[in-house]
Amino acid sequence: MSDKLIVGNWKMNMLLDEAKLLVDSILKDIGSDYDSCNVVLAPPYTALRSVYENIKDSRIELGAQDVFWELSGAYTGEISVNMLLDTGCTWVIIGHSERRHLLGESEELISKKVITALENGLNVILCVGETEKQKVEGQTINVIKKQLESAFSEDAKKYVKKIFIAYEPVWAIGTGKIARPNEIINIHQQIKQILTGLFGNDGNNISLLYGGSVSPENIGDFIHSRFVNGALVGGASLKADKFTEIIKKAGV
Ligand code: PGA
Repeated sequence: MSDKLIVGNWKMNMLLDEAKLLVDSILKDIGSDYDSCNVVLAPPYTALRSVYENIKDSRIELGAQDVFWELSGAYTGEISVNMLLDTGCTWVIIGHSERRHLLGESEELISKKVITALENGLNVILCVGETEKQKVEGQTINVIKKQLESAFSEDAKKYVKKIFIAYEPVWAIGTGKIARPNEIINIHQQIKQILTGLFGNDGNNISLLYGGSVSPENIGDFIHSRFVNGALVGGASLKADKFTEIIKKAGV
């Protein structure tokens, strides 16, 4: 069995009926006995429970797209780790660039979310990546280093097995532009070095996912590198045929 991890980030898409159709098609397409790789679906909050009911007898796991850093209380509009666990979630995406850039989510908030999610048992996919301007200015690795260093407090280091990193260049998200395979591999190698600096030898075991315009056409160009442990898929995860093709290609 391949140990690659494919995560579908549905973003703000899918009403309940649409979610059910999509999951039914994914389950049908991949078949009940697939073992090609590990799969996580991250629907919007409103569809978490219904997607869970649909996938609970399969090997697909459930993730959320964000979480709040307190466990309960007067935080209008927020969703806690306990609420996510209650819906069947075992994963959460934190620090997605859409939250960093559109909603102004700071490194400090991200770090608080990361530790709360880890301490309460969720697997955390932390997103990092540079903007086009930062790339042009040669700042890619500095930006990623700062994002990684500020996300993980000393306490977070106890939960290294639950930490996953998604390298998502902002200029590649939803644009159809993908980083070149050698760029992805090179940056993943440098991320590994930063992680061993932060976590010691344990940093070597942290899985790295690539995200940004991943499709059935390009997944094969980078997924089999030993420096790439999986992919975070946005747009293509909304189409059952595309998403299952990605899963199958990653699992070969
Ligand atoms: P995309 O999104 O695959 O549509 O580029 C990826 C992501 O934002 O996680």
